Amino acid sequence: MAMFKTFIGLLVAPRVISQNVIELSGSSWTLTNPPYNNISVSGSVPSQVHLDLYAAHVIPDPYYGLNDFNLRWVANSNWTYSTSTAGLDTSKSTQTWLLFNGLDTFTRIEFCGQPVASTNNQFRQYYFEVSALLSNCTSPTLSINFGSAPMIANQIAVEPNQETWPYGVEIIYEFPNRQFIRKEQSDFGWDWGPAFAPAGIWQPAYILQLSSPPDASSEIYVRNSDFGISRVGQLNNLPPDQSAPWLLNASLDVLGTLPKGAALSYAFRDSSTNETVSSGNLTNLTSSSSTITGTAILDPSVYELWWPRGLGSQSLYDLTVSVVDCRGTTLASVNRRTGFRTIVLNMEVISEEQIAQGIAPGNNWHFEINGHEFYAKGSNFIPPDAFWPRVTKTKMQQLFDSVIAGNQNMLRVWASGAYTPDFIYDIADQEGVLMWSEFEFGDALYPTDQEFIDNVAEEITYNVRRVNHHPSLALWAGGNELESLELQNVNQTSPDEYNYYLTQYEQLFLDTIINIVYANSKSISYIPSSTTNGFLDLNFSLPKPMIERYNNKTPGSVYGDTDYYNYDSSVAFNYSSYPVGRFANEFGYHSMPSLQSWQEAVSPEDLYFNSSTIQLRNHHYPPGGLNTSNYANTSKGMGEMTIAAERWYPVPNKTDSVANFSAWCHTTQIFQADFYKSEIQFYRRGSGFPNRQLGSLYWQLEDIWQAPSWAGIEYNGKGALLKSHAFS
Ligand SMILES: *[C@@H]1O[C@H](CO)[C@@H](O)[C@H](O)[C@H]1NC(C)=O
Ligand SMILES: *[C@@H]1O[C@H](CO)[C@@H](O)[C@H](O)[C@H]1NC(C)=O
Ligand SMILES: *[C@@H]1O[C@H](CO)[C@@H](O)[C@H](O)[C@H]1NC(C)=O
Ligand SMILES: *[C@@H]1O[C@H](CO)[C@@H](O)[C@H](O)[C@H]1NC(C)=O
Ligand SMILES: *[C@@H]1O[C@H](CO)[C@@H](O)[C@H](O)[C@H]1NC(C)=O
Ligand SMILES: *[C@@H]1O[C@H](CO)[C@@H](O)[C@H](O)[C@H]1NC(C)=O
Ligand SMILES: *[C@@H]1O[C@H](CO)[C@@H](O)[C@H](O)[C@H]1NC(C)=O
Ligand SMILES: *[C@@H]1O[C@H](CO)[C@@H](O)[C@H](O)[C@H]1NC(C)=O
Ligand SMILES: *[C@@H]1O[C@H](CO)[C@@H](O)[C@H](O)[C@H]1NC(C)=O
Ligand SMILES: *[C@@H]1O[C@H](CO)[C@@H](O)[C@H](O)[C@H]1NC(C)=O
Ligand SMILES: *[C@@H]1O[C@H](CO)[C@@H](O)[C@H](O)[C@H]1NC(C)=O
Ligand SMILES: *[C@@H]1O[C@H](CO)[C@@H](O)[C@H](O)[C@H]1NC(C)=O
Repeated sequence: MAMFKTFIGLLVAPRVISQNVIELSGSSWTLTNPPYNNISVSGSVPSQVHLDLYAAHVIPDPYYGLNDFNLRWVANSNWTYSTSTAGLDTSKSTQTWLLFNGLDTFTRIEFCGQPVASTNNQFRQYYFEVSALLSNCTSPTLSINFGSAPMIANQIAVEPNQETWPYGVEIIYEFPNRQFIRKEQSDFGWDWGPAFAPAGIWQPAYILQLSSPPDASSEIYVRNSDFGISRVGQLNNLPPDQSAPWLLNASLDVLGTLPKGAALSYAFRDSSTNETVSSGNLTNLTSSSSTITGTAILDPSVYELWWPRGLGSQSLYDLTVSVVDCRGTTLASVNRRTGFRTIVLNMEVISEEQIAQGIAPGNNWHFEINGHEFYAKGSNFIPPDAFWPRVTKTKMQQLFDSVIAGNQNMLRVWASGAYTPDFIYDIADQEGVLMWSEFEFGDALYPTDQEFIDNVAEEITYNVRRVNHHPSLALWAGGNELESLELQNVNQTSPDEYNYYLTQYEQLFLDTIINIVYANSKSISYIPSSTTNGFLDLNFSLPKPMIERYNNKTPGSVYGDTDYYNYDSSVAFNYSSYPVGRFANEFGYHSMPSLQSWQEAVSPEDLYFNSSTIQLRNHHYPPGGLNTSNYANTSKGMGEMTIAAERWYPVPNKTDSVANFSAWCHTTQIFQADFYKSEIQFYRRGSGFPNRQLGSLYWQLEDIWQAPSWAGIEYNGKGALLKSHAFS
């Protein structure tokens, strides 16, 4: 078996500490399907079952034809990944840990044939000490059983006393009951994507061995860290004093035992020259058994600001924070590339001074970078693949190259995929693209039993801390279309129950999540819902610091951001039909992908506009369940594209049927591009109108697969394929 040992030899005399860090991507894994076990193939880490079965030729390309529907049996089965791990130290003076940065989703983990734990959240980091199991184990094996997520979601939905909601509150795409589980919500289908509900060890996994000799300090391993840079005195959601010094707050989550008297030191190096810019010790240290935190006040004259592209340079610094014991030995070091900026979503009351400038009363709703208002130009980022393990740096760099070529300075990382991996934020930091980031809740209301809340709290804590150092991080939003769509839906369909569901909504998004964001970041603003009329009051002394405005609006005043779709193409170019708000966070119309994309995914006989394969790959409108023989919903969406093309452009009429199909696809794209151009121009000119409109993010940046959608960039393994030049 293959195994990689990384000896992290550190650093400062007098003693050298080494740790045994075994990356489980290097082990050889077997994937089987209990209880039948009549499939047994090589597995990989990180990976997902569909990818490993496809590589072993057990299933066809999941993206081809109607395999979205045909491969349901994979999602409905249980799967086990197993490996044997030789070369572990079994001595009593060693602590052994399993560390998983992501398990998708329902697992039962066994080590040495003994149960270790169960997990139920795709977005958490899990770690388990297994020293006792290893000490009594001759041939260490690790086995991780994944239960079927759709089946388990259905079981949870019918548990006694389980929450229910009025009909229609949960938008069902394909598999139902996604709101009961903490897994990528679009894995159960969305109106632009397939429903594979994959399973697997989708993020890196490790076995760690830390020596803990009785006479010396134990080794430690940093499993996560939270490096925050804010202005002294800064509070979330409020514009800070730009002349204040910087506050560095570094907090490390460790495995192993922190010795008494452990201290923290830091050093900043300029990322372009690698020269040390500043260094010192952190002060005001606090520590628990698993976390050590310290702060430093930094002289602002020493650091260049980070700006989004188009507004200044993207100055970056490599920050090293080290844990040092009382003898001066460095026990662990963490390096993160970071930057100095403040970014605030200003939702404060329009001032008298602003009114005197001609700005309509109400509340602001715009971003300020380093104290400067700016126009946010961009789009919405969805999961770039139904299978994250095959999202590569190269592919993401190509995507960001297109973002930059289109002069975009902000992406909204939509709320029902997965938390963006660090390598994508690293690209955004480097390219100067702000990332409005969201927690993974959307187009449903969610349970609020204590177990669910506790599970969410762990997920939020891990991810807020993990990404806090990225200067591209612009905002945390609770979820997608919750205030604007979900609460409105309850209000319309079941007004008597509105207060009951509102209380639950606030418990999750305005008691639980906001307080975790505020506890772990001082630099990032929070909104509970992607589309929101903003807050009425913000008071950090209250247990619920943010009081939402909801529909409590004064006529003639302007509040909040807008989410607007209108599939009546007769008014597509009529400015009076567009919403007037402070910021447009979603808008769009679907179109066909190009012939080249279709040729990757469907057979030649299906290459015509309304072929059944093409219709069934169109999920606007979604099937609404597992019955896909009903064409009513997709026909409506195919009809909308057809009517718009016929209404506004010459109808393609080529004699070659494939050329005619290609021309039809192209015509739907021309309509899409012209419509977006019209809306973007309207929103942009609003910056000079009383609504003082300061942002337009169209729906959606890129495709998850080859299908009709709102995307401007098609799914294509070879690189970005722009639907139309109007997007660039
Ligand atoms: C495995 O066994 C199950 C149950 O007998 C059967 O339904 C399935 O087709 C078998 N799969 C393979 C790949 O043989
Ligand atoms: C998957 O495992 C669960 C729990 O062991 C079991 O209840 C279920 O029947 C299994 N499903 C299949 C399809 O084998
Ligand atoms: C060690 O493992 C054996 C067999 O698995 C078991 O019988 C025994 O009780 C274990 N001993 C300890 C101390 O856990
Ligand atoms: C940058 O400087 C640090 C500290 O002196 C050194 O450890 C590291 O290797 C340097 N990196 C590069 C890329 O030169
Ligand atoms: C940091 O603390 C160490 C002791 O842990 C001390 O030796 C060193 O002088 C301090 N450095 C600075 C810059 O204060
Ligand atoms: C340490 O805490 C004190 C009291 O809260 C504060 O005045 C000081 O600025 C803090 N120092 C740093 C470096 O954060
Ligand atoms: C509920 O809907 C009514 C009628 O559309 C509206 O007047 C009211 O403001 C809504 N209430 C809330 C809390 O959204
Ligand atoms: C530093 O961050 C930690 C969370 O990592 C938080 O508990 C603490 O209050 C922060 N300290 C300051 C001074 O902001
Ligand atoms: C914030 O809340 C606290 C505690 O209730 C209260 O004393 C204070 O007056 C409030 N501040 C503002 C500005 O309303
Ligand atoms: C444009 O839209 C507005 C508002 O929906 C409507 O009143 C008006 O008649 C439309 N104008 C045209 C020319 O369609
Ligand atoms: C595709 O089907 C829809 C729904 O039946 C229909 O309205 C539309 O005209 C068709 N489009 C083309 C290009 O044939
Ligand atoms: C399409 O082209 C054919 C000849 O190539 C012509 O007879 C027909 O009228 C055209 N149809 C339309 C709708 O332009």
